[in-house]
Amino acid sequence: MYLSRLQILNFRNHEALNLELCRGINTFTGANGSGKTGILDAVYYLANCKSYFNQPDPQLVKHGSDQFSLKGIFHPDAGSDAEDEIICHYGGRGKKNVKRNGKVYERLVDHIGLIHAVLITPYDIELVLGLSEDRRRFVDQTLCQTNRNYLSDLMRYRHLQEQRNSLLKAQGEPDAVVLEALDHHMAEPADRIYQVRRQFTAALLPLFTEAYRELSLEREVPGLRYSSDLEKGTMASLLFANRSKDRVLQRTSEGPHRDDWVFELDGQTLRKYGSQGQIKTFVIALKLAQYRYFREVSGQTPLLLLDDIFEKIDASRAQALMHAVSDERFGQILITDTHRQRVEEHLAPVAIEQKHFSL
Ligand SMILES: Nc1ncnc2c1ncn2[C@@H]1O[C@H](COP(=O)(O)OP(=O)(O)OP(=O)(O)O)[C@@H](O)[C@H]1O
Ligand SMILES: [Mg+2]
Repeated sequence: MYLSRLQILNFRNHEALNLELCRGINTFTGANGSGKTGILDAVYYLANCKSYFNQPDPQLVKHGSDQFSLKGIFHPDAGSDAEDEIICHYGGRGKKNVKRNGKVYERLVDHIGLIHAVLITPYDIELVLGLSEDRRRFVDQTLCQTNRNYLSDLMRYRHLQEQRNSLLKAQGEPDAVVLEALDHHMAEPADRIYQVRRQFTAALLPLFTEAYRELSLEREVPGLRYSSDLEKGTMASLLFANRSKDRVLQRTSEGPHRDDWVFELDGQTLRKYGSQGQIKTFVIALKLAQYRYFREVSGQTPLLLLDDIFEKIDASRAQALMHAVSDERFGQILITDTHRQRVEEHLAPVAIEQKHFSL
């Protein structure tokens, strides 16, 4: 998949932009605050109907305006004549619609999975240093784009878990019949979420290990381990065993909502023992693995969006990254940087079509 044209109206700090992109590497250079990350976020938005940075739509509207609009012309890998015109329009007060070739989607989720975009930004360091919810978000983002049933299981589980927690928080004894029913309904989606996450981790591991090896100059062995309460038993058995504890705690103490992934290097916890460079390499390798996973599952090359990538890694790792991404299996790439010269130096040895934009 590649993006040939990108139009941005009143999105973040951009008033009006109309860009014609090349199929290879597109670079965007400009000073801090010139709007480079905003351009990548616009592309991410066109693929996912939301900002990568968890910012609600009203915050994305350019100050002084009351709506924003994004338009992209996308082309699938094969048959370059075919194209999809995607328009995302936010009209203020929660009014948002997404159109594909002039037709408004009834549900935004129907758009998810058509276009895959992998964004690598300095903020991704939170995947390692942040909370378990940051890691769950990464896994859920990946799975929701590739597995429709997973998305509905996740929404159903969250909804029931909220209901169960409110019941446990309510004054007095919770109604045993209602609790029994909620437990019964929660068990199935929870068990499926666990199975899908387990299979996903197993599928991601070799892709991740390969990506890490390509980027890393040392020989350390990276590890990626899924950790879940459901390793102990089915959700039904956990809910049953925890019933009195949950009443005291007034919440559901165990379940997939607590799942986490343990990252290691040579058997040591990355978060505690990894150097800054090792942590950055780990995060980039995770994202490249996500890219390859999307490509395997969808059969389309995703868009790769690299935000300030050369700022954050040393020259040799940057070269290794450029070597990895210039492989012919990669599709279109958008790169931002504050220094035009640095990008040109890194890209000089890369024999792929390139286009430079200055902001
Ligand atoms: N809704 C908005 N309206 C107007 N300006 C906004 C809005 N949201 C963000 N901005 C501003 O847009 C500017 C550009 O942000 P962006 O992160 O895209 O810049 P950047 O070029 O990536 O900068 P850096 O090199 O520091 O990463 C920032 O100054 C930010 O405050
Ligand atoms: Mg930026």
